Amino acid sequence: MSSTRGFAIAGVAFAAGIAMIILGGVGRVHAGAAAGTTAAGPQYDASGKLLRPVDYREWIYVSSGFGMSYGPGGTDHPQFTNVFVTPASWRYFQQHGTWPDKTVFALEEYSSTSHGSINKSGHYQSSQAGLVAEVKDESQSAKGADRWAFYAFGGDTQAAPVISRDNCLACHSKNAAVDNTFVQFYPKLLAVAYDKGTVRPDIEIPLSAERMAKQVLVRGWAAAEPTIRAAHKKHPESEAFEVDSFGEVVQALAGQKRFDDAVGILKFARELYPTHAGVENDLSEIYEAMGKKPEAMAAAERVLALAEKDATLTSEHRGQVVNQAKERIARLKK
Ligand code: HEC
Repeated sequence: MSSTRGFAIAGVAFAAGIAMIILGGVGRVHAGAAAGTTAAGPQYDASGKLLRPVDYREWIYVSSGFGMSYGPGGTDHPQFTNVFVTPASWRYFQQHGTWPDKTVFALEEYSSTSHGSINKSGHYQSSQAGLVAEVKDESQSAKGADRWAFYAFGGDTQAAPVISRDNCLACHSKNAAVDNTFVQFYPKLLAVAYDKGTVRPDIEIPLSAERMAKQVLVRGWAAAEPTIRAAHKKHPESEAFEVDSFGEVVQALAGQKRFDDAVGILKFARELYPTHAGVENDLSEIYEAMGKKPEAMAAAERVLALAEKDATLTSEHRGQVVNQAKERIARLKK
């Protein structure tokens, strides 16, 4: 009995499989037959409109922008932009640093709000305000279109026509760092693109704290120094050159007992922050760990000289730094 039933079910499944193959074939010809663009790739209707991405919340989350604007002036109502990409394309990018054919991006616009529930500052996302898509598709370019095409799904638009290249593509092809996409704003992907050498050299990207740390940790201070100094000349306001960014690299280096590298980067930090007691304190600590007593002593004395006037210190931090310096001096005198 049971084996007959099992067989019957298998037969039904087989028949359903055929039906799906036939419908799938028909779907490519008839408008609206397919449910929408999915993780599997772009889907079009008979007139070549892109079908609305339906499951993009199950794709890979790339990153979010907040209140970004590309002309003069900002906006009173900053929006979030949440970017998603088809999972197979994400995996391909990890290997190659570029996008494969059939890549689809969905960008969701969300309004922001700041006062609600327990929130006292900062912003969170509120209502969906739009959905746009970007598709890399060789089959479309074979029909004379651009390899990258852009679409907007206002309201509950189910199928959107391609937008003129003078609009979206013009900005993307001029300003985007990797293969027409704004990888300079997606830190995880940017790290991959740097590793694979696929970042457009004519696009200026300020150094992040993470990338500065990586350069020093991988290459050592002496090898990384010229690149880092050049980056500082171009964009001194970059996150990498905030004083806290140096502190984190120094901690990592000290943890690996790479004291020469730590001293190198701290001397650079001291050039940028000559009145910062915290930098001197780190330097003094590293010198002590190296057994360089006179250098450690001199740095600790500079901490004491600077701490009183260092406006970047909170009173609590000032107390800590001063105590540490005094203890170090007492230790070194023994
Ligand atoms: C003035 C420049 C500019 C124009 C014009 C523009 N974009 Fe973008 N686009 C951006 C920037 C910058 C980002 C990165 C946004 C972020 O990080 O949230 C972006 C990101 C995107 C993304 C995510 C994938 C990627 O390429 O990084 C999509 C999808 C997208 N835009 C679609 C569109 C569509 C559709 C249009 C036309 C209706 C358009 N864009 C017009 C600048 C532009």
